[in-house]
Amino acid sequence: METRKIKIFDTTLRDGEQSPGCSMNLKEKIEMAKQLERMRVDVIEAGFAISSQGDFVSVKTIAETVKDCTVASLARASEKDIDRAWEAVKGAADPRIHLFLATSPLHMEYKLHMAPDDVYEMAVAMTAYAAKYCPNIEFSAEDATRSNWKFLAKVIEGVIAAGATTVNLPDTVGYTLPDEHYAFFMRMREMAPSLNDVTISSHCHNDLGLGVANSLAAIRAGVSQVECTVNGIGERAGNAAMEEIVMGLYTRKDYYQAETGIATSEIVRSSSLLTRITGVKVQPNKAIVGENAFAHEAGIHQHGVMQNRATYEIMTPESVGLNKNNLVLGKHSGKHAFKARVASLGYSLDDAELEMAFEKFKSLADKKKTVYDRDIEALVAKEAVQVPRIYRLNSFVINSGNTITSTAVLKMTHNDRTIEKVSRGEGPIDAAFKAIEKIVGRELALEDYQLGSVTEGEDALGDALVKIKTADGAVFSGRGLSTDVIEASIHAYVNAVNKMIYAEKEGMYSDAVLEKRAAKRSR
Ligand code: KIV
Ligand code: ZN
Repeated sequence: METRKIKIFDTTLRDGEQSPGCSMNLKEKIEMAKQLERMRVDVIEAGFAISSQGDFVSVKTIAETVKDCTVASLARASEKDIDRAWEAVKGAADPRIHLFLATSPLHMEYKLHMAPDDVYEMAVAMTAYAAKYCPNIEFSAEDATRSNWKFLAKVIEGVIAAGATTVNLPDTVGYTLPDEHYAFFMRMREMAPSLNDVTISSHCHNDLGLGVANSLAAIRAGVSQVECTVNGIGERAGNAAMEEIVMGLYTRKDYYQAETGIATSEIVRSSSLLTRITGVKVQPNKAIVGENAFAHEAGIHQHGVMQNRATYEIMTPESVGLNKNNLVLGKHSGKHAFKARVASLGYSLDDAELEMAFEKFKSLADKKKTVYDRDIEALVAKEAVQVPRIYRLNSFVINSGNTITSTAVLKMTHNDRTIEKVSRGEGPIDAAFKAIEKIVGRELALEDYQLGSVTEGEDALGDALVKIKTADGAVFSGRGLSTDVIEASIHAYVNAVNKMIYAEKEGMYSDAVLEKRAAKRSR
């Protein structure tokens, strides 16, 4: 039997990014998009152009940057949305407008307040409107799996006749079950035969933990595009996880007779980059990209793996790009060796970013016996998504102990001006964070604080994550790296502050926050 090609439609930057705690700034989105291109996804859904000025700019920039993938923007079925989506994607090598309209009785009655006939008319008219701009049109029937099949078939036939080249039938609320999902697609292909002339797509949410199973069932039923996100991030319980679908097809090609074009060795890097950007970690036992996914603890398993890896390993760590303790460079390595290593890890830094990353590498190599690929990746990934350093840490002195109140003295630079503040706090971290707040002169709440390490070992690089919340509810995350955990924490807080200022300057705020601000001003 011939192997079918399944297109991977990545919506990490749209459905993923709209979930709590996962928002990204322009630089981060571009870096993530470049990584998705490196991983060879077929379609990047770069955002929802009309939702905010920030989203519009990021969709447009990604469309103009990415060359080897289709770039899509989401749009509601309205002329205004479609105009904006087209404006954002038209500079892409292969632009796509992705419009959606709900077709389930629940959504039509309570959300759209529209009769089914009107929904049909609108779906067809807006598809035709979008098709005037662009030959690559995707129509999504939101909440398709809870729609009336006869009505859905009518909508599908209508939008295909109007110019849709991809029809997506989402399981918007993660309600469907794998057998049912298979039967649903098989039946839709019979009831709306034109489906067989276009790309049929599945988009599964994970509310019952079945997003990946449902996507694979849809593939068996003839779907040739699946929509998913890196690490499965997304609304509520998330979207189907891309790495699981891809490796499911890769490992069980014998069963599915289908494959993707994904460079599987880029999977771990994509997952780590997303975690680094959003600060949202995956659980250790998460399939494919969790910390323990390839760890063999039980003696009997270790023994088996040593004799023959296939005893307990159905895919190799290398196939997903996991190259654990890869010793690379030391303190005597020069800039050329560092640059070559960075390039082989898949990063392209400009001269200033490379210089900065090299300085950090040198100071790390001075403190740490062994520098692994993972250390370098952490440094470089951070540099690649670095926003302008409006505030910089110069020095800190902290006095702390279990019998005294901690005091922090911090010196920072802001626009060439040095500012020094002293603060007390419950422990060294709290004192340091309060001193930064005083320097910045803003009321900021600490939403989250986590400390981890990039590799194992006593001299490991400490990796701090800080999330701060502004008075109007916007949340910004920052990362900091240092072999000294207090320094890593301070860097993380300063990074979050710089991201906040960058977002304010670039208009990256979501409409929800802007509305809240406007309401506050008019009070
Ligand atoms: O879940 C959903 O239905 C969606 C559509 C907008 C495609 O995300
Ligand atoms: Zn969705």
